[in-house]
Amino acid sequence: MKLQKKFKLTLFAGLGLMMGALGFADGGDGSGDDALTAAAHPVFTAEQAEAGEVVYQQSCAACHFGQLQGDDFAAALAGGNFRNYWSSRTLEQFLDYVRTQMPLGQPGTLSDEAYAQVVAYILDFNGYPAGEVELSADPAELSHIVFGLPTE
Ligand code: HEC
Repeated sequence: MKLQKKFKLTLFAGLGLMMGALGFADGGDGSGDDALTAAAHPVFTAEQAEAGEVVYQQSCAACHFGQLQGDDFAAALAGGNFRNYWSSRTLEQFLDYVRTQMPLGQPGTLSDEAYAQVVAYILDFNGYPAGEVELSADPAELSHIVFGLPTE
């Protein structure tokens, strides 16, 4: 029953992704039971994304710009290339990267809460769905969530 529901959610995100998502989230234990994509299953709240926009404007926009478009220096945090790159990766990897590398030159200087908020904002901006459950600030809790590709 549980598995069936997950398959439905994943199918919703597209058949092609199913293989990648399940394969990646397998974690080597062979079960694949924890696979979940942020594209098909809301993993943050709208309030979190709103708070994240403020964090983004203060701490990220100077380099990544207002539409998250980036430039030759700082990578884009929105758009097809960004989503394709992260689609098969986990939110744990993303949060870890942001926290240990960003803001460039001052990594780790935001609160855990602010890092989760800014990640929620980037997801929201890229068309990932918001829902009832807040995105955890604990990277370990995000290890089973793969980005997937949102339907546009
Ligand atoms: C001082 C400029 C600067 C600031 C401020 C900054 N970044 Fe970056 N960011 C960069 C640069 C430059 C890169 C590319 C790094 C590389 O290629 O090694 C980057 C890369 C990234 C990436 C990787 C993108 C990808 O798909 O490869 C993410 C995610 C990111 N930044 C998020 C953030 C967030 C979130 C903030 C605010 C908390 C932030 N950055 C603030 C300069 C900045």
